[in-house]
Amino acid sequence: MPIFVSEFAEMTEHQFLPKTSYTFLESGSVAAQSPSNIALVKYWGKYGEQLPKNASVSFTLSQCRTETTLSFERKQSEGFEFEVYLEGKKEDAFKPKIQKFFERIERYVPFLTAYSFTIETKNTFPHSSGIASSASGMSALALCLVAIEQLLSSEEMTTQHGTEKASFLARLGSGSASRSLQGPLVVWGKHSRIEGSSDLVGTPYPYAVHSNFQSYHDTILLVDTGEKQVSSTVGHNLMHEHPFATLRFAQANEHLEQLITVFETGDRAQFITIVEGEALSLHAMMMTSNPYFVLMKPNTLEIINRIWKFRKETGSSVCFTLDAGANVHVLYPSEEKEGVSKFIRKELAPFCKDGAFIDDTVGTGASLL
Ligand code: PMV
Repeated sequence: MPIFVSEFAEMTEHQFLPKTSYTFLESGSVAAQSPSNIALVKYWGKYGEQLPKNASVSFTLSQCRTETTLSFERKQSEGFEFEVYLEGKKEDAFKPKIQKFFERIERYVPFLTAYSFTIETKNTFPHSSGIASSASGMSALALCLVAIEQLLSSEEMTTQHGTEKASFLARLGSGSASRSLQGPLVVWGKHSRIEGSSDLVGTPYPYAVHSNFQSYHDTILLVDTGEKQVSSTVGHNLMHEHPFATLRFAQANEHLEQLITVFETGDRAQFITIVEGEALSLHAMMMTSNPYFVLMKPNTLEIINRIWKFRKETGSSVCFTLDAGANVHVLYPSEEKEGVSKFIRKELAPFCKDGAFIDDTVGTGASLL
């Protein structure tokens, strides 16, 4: 019996299974670019197969990107076969994560075992910058895989379905990667107040966004550029037994609900309260898990205090957010660029490793190259 999926019906995994059999090409190559994203409401805690315990929303970035070329050659042997190159150098350290990714997505892109793949990838930001490349990297690779599926399938795939499938696959590589395919604001995780939102894929924020939030900057202050102290996999798992988990998930959903009004009215003061509160709540979860972690460094706190002082003295709308690390994302509207840039260079850069920071702006998402 045919199943009709209306526009508003709940999305299911079945929608992402291949619809037709493939006509295998001998070899070929596709390429895609995808940006990083910065969450305003954070995802921290998951269930099932990479499904979020609460809904999140992020600004898609534009300068911090991964570019990936995926070449494929027909093979007869069983299992997965692939090599990974980062900036032209073979990178075997990436293989276990990609192996796991392939295992998770095989049923949705079963051609994976029919080819030997070469993954050539490069980031527009330094690999050692401490910026997570998993969101941009996994989403770029996912988009390449969807492009290959389109080459092998006789049936046309709509652009929307292609983008959703790329987000669906990216999620299975790294949760936050599901939010990198589109822009400028993407929701991931089912939220009762946001139509079309889903635990399976990231979807563009569907409601009105005031001009106050239409062109934001994110300057990423590189406070600590070392290896991540706690992997996000470990961090998410610590939320299973966390004494504050239930309240935290409710708080994030509540914050997202409040942001609907904030986005509509352009209320920057409330935006700041929610965004900074989210960053500190995320870190509070890490500080109160078992085992516990402090991922902020003394310079992270120094920067936060200076942002608060600057805001108080100037009435600026600049604010900060944090990922699961010590680096600080400084968010501000484009009309404040001149003043905030000066402030960053003079007062915040001295607290960065080697004075380094990356200027980024909100962008539109991934594309094929
Ligand atoms: O996508 P993951 O599994 O690396 O988790 C990322 C989680 C945070 O970056 C801390 C928050 C978020 O929503 O991006």
